[in-house]
Amino acid sequence: MRRLRAALETAGYTYEGVAGLLGPTAHAALSRNETTPGLRATRDGSPLATLTRLWLLQTPVSVEAAERALPGLLGPLAHLGIVSGSGHEVRALVDVRPYADEDHDWWVLSDLTPGLDGRNLRVGGDHVLGISSASTSLAQLTVRDPADRALDLGTGCGVQALHLAAHSREVVATDVNERALWMTRLNAELNGVFEDGRLDVRDGSLFEPVSGEQFDLIVTNPPFVISPATDERLVYRDSGLPGDEVVRRVVTGAPGHLRPGGWCQVLANWVIEKDRPWDERLAGWLEGSGCDAWVVQREVADPPQYVELWLKDAGLHGTPEYAERYDAWLAWFEQQAVEGVGFGWLNLHRTDRSEPVLRFEDWPYEVEQPLGREVADWAARIGLERTLDDEALLAARLVVRSDVRQETFGQPGAEDPEQIVLRQQRGLRRARKADTVEAGLVGACDGDLAVGQIIDALGTLLDGEPADLRREYLPVVRDLVVEGFLTDQG
Ligand SMILES: C[S@@+](CC[C@H](N)C(=O)[O-])C[C@H]1O[C@@H](n2cnc3c(N)ncnc32)[C@H](O)[C@@H]1O
Repeated sequence: MRRLRAALETAGYTYEGVAGLLGPTAHAALSRNETTPGLRATRDGSPLATLTRLWLLQTPVSVEAAERALPGLLGPLAHLGIVSGSGHEVRALVDVRPYADEDHDWWVLSDLTPGLDGRNLRVGGDHVLGISSASTSLAQLTVRDPADRALDLGTGCGVQALHLAAHSREVVATDVNERALWMTRLNAELNGVFEDGRLDVRDGSLFEPVSGEQFDLIVTNPPFVISPATDERLVYRDSGLPGDEVVRRVVTGAPGHLRPGGWCQVLANWVIEKDRPWDERLAGWLEGSGCDAWVVQREVADPPQYVELWLKDAGLHGTPEYAERYDAWLAWFEQQAVEGVGFGWLNLHRTDRSEPVLRFEDWPYEVEQPLGREVADWAARIGLERTLDDEALLAARLVVRSDVRQETFGQPGAEDPEQIVLRQQRGLRRARKADTVEAGLVGACDGDLAVGQIIDALGTLLDGEPADLRREYLPVVRDLVVEGFLTDQG
């Protein structure tokens, strides 16, 4: 793996290198699983072009070109089952692709991407998924503060573990899929994470492999697909447990494995039952956990949308069994009184507060990425708000966050706007409607005057009773602090 890394580096097989070679349109086509533009852009026989063809475009390359790109490595790679040679050609048996964030360049080995150029999408039960949009969502959501011990539960190809290794002293990565564990170990070696012994790869289900252990950070993108039991379990997405039980087990099990102040961040699907608010079920999982929780529902799929998505993911669209499987899945949803499926994030923060803060919200809009900083800031804002009793809040000299903008809507020339919206440009990019008092209050928060003084001044201006205004607007100020519109930092 060390020699492979050296060859990849020498060839310039990095995220930037490949993007530069392919150019934006071929790169975009590849993200739609189309290889033809990429093949046209990689005909120069250079090591970079050869590696891009072999792994990203999954096209056989000549033995001579492969030997130039991977000198002395074809035998060992064939022995490991990474490539195979037949006659004059070498083909990929697994995917090896460059991957990067703002600060790091990695290579990630996973099973081959199914469905390139409309080819067969079906994969084996132990298929190890490469970097998916869910992987990157979780990576971007993760709080990246320095951690002593971190856990990547259901590591797959180990992509979260690579990220975690960049800011954690020790990382434990678990999975039930032997092939995934094998690939995670190879990826750790390929990226030099194993050399300092900081990654510990363990076999086992959910929290079994870490019984009695605690962590500062747990991240997981569990196999959350909600489906009726079938014989064809794809381990990367089907837990084998009914409904959203796997997510419930992760969420209820995690608090016992968190150190004080620790975080558990989960990407998940959850059942929305008929005639029951989605957050009510999830709140039941979180009560008494000792954790504050911020749960964001990013999307809701109705049953047909959900079934279509995952039948297509399994490569069943267009097959003879498609309609039968579709019907059986819908019937099962009906039996379970499933009205829809929610997709989103659960962020648990162990605070051991007597009354933990549980915040549930629907937020389907675009957010700033990466969002990890915003998650950590949310916890800090909750901490601040909880330390301020009403008197302290009235005395606080708060400041409007510098990215907040005010939008007013109304008839041209009208004296007063019909609607005022306060909108953040950063983080979750929250927007909230404000009345004239709230907008005036936020506008006056420049750190000079205390909240109480501002409310009183607005009362005088608007002929209101200051005591009434204080009663009415203190809860609003609390919301504005928790949501990040107002801060105590100038
Ligand atoms: C959706 S993949 C996530 C892979 C990777 N962590 C990522 O973010 O891309 C889910 C992973 O959970 C693993 N898994 C399935 N059942 C599990 C269980 N009971 N306990 C632990 N891991 C499990 C699968 O093998 C798979 O690697």
